[in-house]
Amino acid sequence: MCGIIGYTGKAQAAPKLLLCLKRLEYRGYDSAGIAVLCEDNFSVYKRKGRVDELEGAKALSGTTGIGHTRWATHGEPSEKNAHPHLYGRYAVVHNGIIENYRQLKEECEARGERFTSETDSEVIAHLLDFYDEGDVLTALRKTCARLIGSYALAVMRRDRADALYAARRKSPLIVGRGNDGLYVASDVPAIAECGELYSLADGEFALLQQDTIKFFREEGEIGKEQMKLTSRAEFPDKGGYAHYMWKEMCEIPAAIAHSIINFDSDPRFSAFNIVLCHTKYVQIVACGTAYHSGIAAKYLIERAARIPVEVTVASEYRYGDPIIREGTLTLAVSQSGETADTLAAAQLAKERGATVVAVTNAPDSSITRIAHFVLLTQAGREIAVAATKSFNAQLALLYSFGTALAAQQGKTADRSALLSLPALAEQTLSRVEKLKMTAPFYAQARSVYFIGRGADYCAALEGSLKLKEISYLPSEGYPAGELKHGTLALVDEGTPVVAILTQRAVAEKTMNAVSEVYARGGKVLLITSFPEYTARKEVSVSILLPACEELYSPILSVIPLQALAYYTALARGNDPDKPRNLAKSVTVE
Ligand code: M6R
Repeated sequence: MCGIIGYTGKAQAAPKLLLCLKRLEYRGYDSAGIAVLCEDNFSVYKRKGRVDELEGAKALSGTTGIGHTRWATHGEPSEKNAHPHLYGRYAVVHNGIIENYRQLKEECEARGERFTSETDSEVIAHLLDFYDEGDVLTALRKTCARLIGSYALAVMRRDRADALYAARRKSPLIVGRGNDGLYVASDVPAIAECGELYSLADGEFALLQQDTIKFFREEGEIGKEQMKLTSRAEFPDKGGYAHYMWKEMCEIPAAIAHSIINFDSDPRFSAFNIVLCHTKYVQIVACGTAYHSGIAAKYLIERAARIPVEVTVASEYRYGDPIIREGTLTLAVSQSGETADTLAAAQLAKERGATVVAVTNAPDSSITRIAHFVLLTQAGREIAVAATKSFNAQLALLYSFGTALAAQQGKTADRSALLSLPALAEQTLSRVEKLKMTAPFYAQARSVYFIGRGADYCAALEGSLKLKEISYLPSEGYPAGELKHGTLALVDEGTPVVAILTQRAVAEKTMNAVSEVYARGGKVLLITSFPEYTARKEVSVSILLPACEELYSPILSVIPLQALAYYTALARGNDPDKPRNLAKSVTVE
């Protein structure tokens, strides 16, 4: 996944492209580049690394240009593999994956054309030049007809200094008109200042020339309605914090408070409540951290509403053969609302007859256009790649959903405990600082294991993912009972094990696993809401959580785990906001 941008207007293009690329950097940041058209020539500036490396490109002169921030799929992050890619009369930026690029490349090479990068994208510039017999749109159509896979494209032709061309299939692309010119971009926030915005659908093309935007499909020109935005983009700064991640953790109490929904009393949900009445099965599809929030929700929904919940990683769901029975409600959970696998899973569930409900933090994202209903978490924009407050917000919303579903099914569901969660999260945050002292020990570990039972298992998974993601330490999360079925073989003198213990009925069982770790020399960090366990000899360090309704406890127990990952990343000298090899929004499969 990558971020693409294009501008044509009366102003200098380069500074505008750079500003927008900065906003798109959450999509990838291993290399970046821009190309600007000036007097029938492309001026190109590419660098390995982040968009900040393009500072020198500001001076490029020209009023039409395209830009790209990359997350490498084909070819290492390098200057030569950075976009834009140029061939013949064309310059192209691409987001997506061209699955048949090898075959297309061979065809081009057989004609004697030479390639300068290892990317799949470069072939697009070659095809455009090959198919161009005078009309750019025809060349673009013919090129797209040859591509298998996904693409959002912004294209310039050397001798068209006032025109930009765009095309889309399975990768988002937005076209906008601002006071200063016309834009194409991977998402709405990148071009937030545009008063007029249009979302390209699959198979559509756009021509942006002087003051005119035209849309086309294979059959010819089409009309298009402006997007109706439900919110305006925000671009928070670090607000005095050293990192976005820590700032966003400090915003967890507010994110929870704003994401709790009272479905019963809010008239906006009356149609939704009728759906809940008829729901017999719940499916949850999501990736990464959002998948973990689905696991936490399963425990709550099954317990409170007695409705079976299936939680499936979206990339597995989309290529499986999911069974949708009458009364199936599919929750597609995605912070960004742009995750390719989650979008595809939601689309498949919809095609097979499920009622699809998007749970997202991004009001105008792609997932909102697929779902029948949209439930918005109110975490505020999350910048750090490691999801923190968005996870807590997802839990707050999914817990609200679970209690509403229970109520609509005639079960007694106590919502009151939900309302205490923001204050409890605040208290939890105030207790995590002592983990800073523990971080150097974790920083030199070979691997770290997280264990928990029931709802605590979900926290174990999320704690482990967080640590992997930003500290680069090998780590796994397990149900505590699974430890002795294999992983215990990896525990020896000094192995760090984090145990989460908030479920009274299985507390002693988890403590058995803790004793087994201790007996092998493992060092246990205990995260618990039960004070009596903190003083046990098997426990090296503990964090006592405030008392909380047990099924909601992951919303609190994850906070020290997020903090542990943050402090460990710092102790290892890593940038917690931009971990290597990752991106905030995973828009390719
Ligand atoms: O935007 P999404 O919630 O759909 O993203 C899903 C995952 O890519 C995401 O949660 C990822 O695992 C995070 N970087 C974890 O911190």
